[in-house]
Amino acid sequence: METKIYKPTSENIKLAADEIKRGQVVAFPTETVYGLGAVFDNDSAIDKVFKIKGRPQSNPLIVHISNIDWLYKLTKEVKKEVEILIDKYWPGALTVILPKSDIVSDKITASLDSVAIRFPSNKIAQELIDKVNKPICAPSANLSGKPSPTTAYDVYNDLNGKIEMILDGKRSEIGVESTVIKIENNKSILLRPGDITYEELKDKIPNLTIDSGVINEIDKKTKVESPGMKFKHYAPKTNITLIESDNKKFMDYVNKNSNQDDYIVILNNEKDIDMIKNKRVIHLGLSCEEKEYNLYNVLREMDKNNIKRAFIQAPKKEGKELALYNRLIRAASFNIIKL
Ligand code: TXA
Ligand code: MG
Repeated sequence: METKIYKPTSENIKLAADEIKRGQVVAFPTETVYGLGAVFDNDSAIDKVFKIKGRPQSNPLIVHISNIDWLYKLTKEVKKEVEILIDKYWPGALTVILPKSDIVSDKITASLDSVAIRFPSNKIAQELIDKVNKPICAPSANLSGKPSPTTAYDVYNDLNGKIEMILDGKRSEIGVESTVIKIENNKSILLRPGDITYEELKDKIPNLTIDSGVINEIDKKTKVESPGMKFKHYAPKTNITLIESDNKKFMDYVNKNSNQDDYIVILNNEKDIDMIKNKRVIHLGLSCEEKEYNLYNVLREMDKNNIKRAFIQAPKKEGKELALYNRLIRAASFNIIKL
């Protein structure tokens, strides 16, 4: 089977919705990254999603909705603080994990008693879910372990021959996956940082904490709040070293330790770029938004260009850069040098 890329016309979105209703799997754009969707109440369709991605069954999926009513149907209880959050951030790049109702199958949640829910703002995603007329569960549409796809072409590269169709919604506006928080009993925990920051959310829910897995490597045996934290993630084949230091030390280090075939990715020191002797220097972006937008594209470029080694300047562990830090420590398989 050759995977086809479709323009997101109303007709083609209907075609995709019909495929999904028949229990097939379709890739579609969201504002964060592309998703690989199956209808939420068909276990064999959900099995296909895991199989196509090569995703461990123990890693649960996010359920995508286009109508708030579904939030109440998919969960047991929606507390006041959740309503405050979704009032502000939905539709958008925030996923909330809440105690699940009986209509959510164990396949989606990997037998956990909670379910992750997101209402994307992307209009194509919304129209697709509307036309299926039921929620769509979707992980990012990459092969498990690889960087998430931000274009239809990225999806095609990973999944050609494995799915029938990709809806092409141009490049994802944000470029990193949604912020994930879990709200249960009286605890609120940030499990995955994203464009919506910890600081913003804490302003609305003061008891919000950051799970230690967000910025630390997790021991294989430890029980984690979010199964996704355990797995190898976001990683190109390139061997990545993340360097936590000031600009000067970073430049000295790469000048001493890199060769002309390596990629050097800088985040902050665009003015000093000429001081790096290496010829393959990439500047991730000026603003945090630009850095998020470019992150996976740069990681995917490394594989396309067969780059063996890359040295990347570590982002800050706060604000929007926390999302970059969280992805890059995993892309680097926790190969971090502090100078
Ligand atoms: O922006 C996004 O969230 C994208 C787009 C397609 O919506 N989706 C996405 O899905 O990134 P995925 O499957 O790649 O990441 C979902 C993360 C995983 O780390 C998973 O372990 C976690 O959410 N997750 C899902 N359900 C959970 C649950 N019930 N409890 C804890 N973690 C959960
Ligand atoms: Mg993913």
